[in-house]
Amino acid sequence: MSADDAVTTSYDRFAAAFAAEAAHSPYNAHYDRPAVLELLGDLTDRVVLDAGCGPGLYVTELLARGAHVIAVDASANMIDLARRHAAGQITLRQHDLTRPLYWLASDSVDIGLLALVIHYIDDRIALLRELHRVLRPGGHLIISTSHPTADWLTAEGSYFDVGWVEQKWACGIGHRFWRQPLHAWCAEFTAAGFAISAITEHQPTADMAHTHPRDHETLTRKPGFIAYRLTKPTNTGHKTDNDA
Ligand SMILES: C[S@@+](CC[C@H](N)C(=O)[O-])C[C@H]1O[C@@H](n2cnc3c(N)ncnc32)[C@H](O)[C@@H]1O
Repeated sequence: MSADDAVTTSYDRFAAAFAAEAAHSPYNAHYDRPAVLELLGDLTDRVVLDAGCGPGLYVTELLARGAHVIAVDASANMIDLARRHAAGQITLRQHDLTRPLYWLASDSVDIGLLALVIHYIDDRIALLRELHRVLRPGGHLIISTSHPTADWLTAEGSYFDVGWVEQKWACGIGHRFWRQPLHAWCAEFTAAGFAISAITEHQPTADMAHTHPRDHETLTRKPGFIAYRLTKPTNTGHKTDNDA
């Protein structure tokens, strides 16, 4: 079993529990999704690829914002849950992101979303290159992942250490993710052909101060996640959607 198979198997076993937890949890509902949705911007009539869609919590938000959604995940159980959320309004497909998205045409997607997934991928540059291929010139890829300082504090050692970190969640399921410092993440993004157009360090929502005060207090001083907006340059002088 490869590392990626192990991750998918964990998520397959954990799919229903993840769906229930992430719908309301401080780190997903009050921290990652609000920050990432803000970075995604206006989605009206945009073709959005939700890569590693999990149980469809982003899918619901993307559809509500008027996007045409293509959602993929390697876990069959996650795809089943996402299908229930989406009620047939989208293209849903079981797909392992370590393989090419051969069924998607080049330049066919306006916005890619990779929320809390990239740290499970072994060959991240290959995946980023494939996402770059399917994005139209000027399109964006939004990525959220662990903040490098959070990984450093969790795994200890040096901030500059690079490699896999093994953890067990409270439910007993094993979890393995890639850790590296900020400059190494940025180098992978640019190696795949992207320009980095924004980096945001998540802030907890004001609501979290009431619903989960301890997590709120922690996250206002110790970042947990980080998000990047990467842009596929156009052929004409790197003009993007953000240019006037
Ligand atoms: C932490 S969950 C995030 C789900 C969703 N993006 C969200 O934020 O609610 C990680 C997801 O990545 C998926 N995943 C992990 N490795 C994958 C791979 N190689 N190909 C496709 N999906 C993968 C898992 O099955 C799981 O659904």
